[in-house]
Amino acid sequence: MLTKFATRHFSSTASTAYKVSVLGAAGGIGQPLSLLMKLNHKVTQLSLYDLRLGAGVATDISHIPTNSTVTGFGPEDNGLAKALDGADVVLIPAGVPRKPGMTRDDLFNTNASIVRDLAKAAADHSPNAAILVISNPVNSTVPIVAEVLKAKGVYNPKKLFGVTTLDVLRSSRFLSEVAKTNPVHEIVPVVGGHSGITIVPLISQTNHKNLPKETYDALVHRIQFGGDEVVQAKGGAGSATLSMAQAGARFAGAVLNGLAGEQDIVECSFVDSPLYKSEGVEFFSSKVTLGVDGVKQIHGLGNLTNAEEEMVNTAKETLIKNIEKGVNFVKQNP
Ligand code: NAD
Ligand code: LMR
Repeated sequence: MLTKFATRHFSSTASTAYKVSVLGAAGGIGQPLSLLMKLNHKVTQLSLYDLRLGAGVATDISHIPTNSTVTGFGPEDNGLAKALDGADVVLIPAGVPRKPGMTRDDLFNTNASIVRDLAKAAADHSPNAAILVISNPVNSTVPIVAEVLKAKGVYNPKKLFGVTTLDVLRSSRFLSEVAKTNPVHEIVPVVGGHSGITIVPLISQTNHKNLPKETYDALVHRIQFGGDEVVQAKGGAGSATLSMAQAGARFAGAVLNGLAGEQDIVECSFVDSPLYKSEGVEFFSSKVTLGVDGVKQIHGLGNLTNAEEEMVNTAKETLIKNIEKGVNFVKQNP
């Protein structure tokens, strides 16, 4: 199934020069992500905001000789407004990461208000930007941003993305390890959401449809709980940062390629999706074609095995609750 959004709220023309803002730029993800965005030649203005060290990270990165200016901001002197002013793409990795024993949902109490407040500022100062949410729990923080933008009258469903690219990266890597292939050639669609059982890799849509059941089950489990592997390995010092920076830079690069009018730019992302809305699932990750206005097409899931269909059904139940939690948070704490 191929679904197009019926309404277009904003219309853009392609350009080749873009302002990208990173909110939470001095963090574990923020720093390497900002570095990678400095290496993207479509970026001409890179704007780095954090509660601390924004200016320091910006000065450091600014010495790299690519064709962009880098400016750093903190909360003083209206820094957030300046950081966002006129941005084309806003990346949000601000917020606390997990420690061993925690679920992503355990981060909700801290990160919900951080993301809500950053979304308010984005609505005011970069209302036309594509907003890429990295802060966890993504299944809930994306609906939080949507509710804030709706309240401010600037919600454009085609320009709000939950970044789930790390699940796609892990799938390529982990599949290649069991199949003994080059991960560069392994492309695995990952649908659903971004936490545990809501992460549904579609292995049947790769060249490895017939893995032995035990291998398949272990692979799916590793992809779904790959984040825990890093959290455990870092022993309380945070979660995935470097692989996430690569994932975020890949996804932001794809969004920029779409904005620039390049064709056939497809990535998986957690977006406002018509796929399961009739069942109460307002946001869902699937393959999305990116274009000059953001989301151009949301792709259906294609043929699924019984096992995949079962996983999608289980994911939907959890997603409904995660999404509702985000929506209710903004209603109760506007
Ligand atoms: P971190 O603690 O290293 O960095 C977070 C940064 O956010 C800090 O520099 C902090 O000062 C900043 N910050 C906090 N509140 C802010 C605010 N109001 N405005 C601006 N900046 C603010 O954490 P991290 O490892 O970089 O992880 C950040 C978030 O990303 C976490 O919620 C984590 O769970 C999430 N994450 C998501 C994915 C994904 O796949 N989507 C992957 C990894 C991590
Ligand atoms: C990940 O998938 O690595 C991130 O969502 C961070 C986490 O908490 O696992």
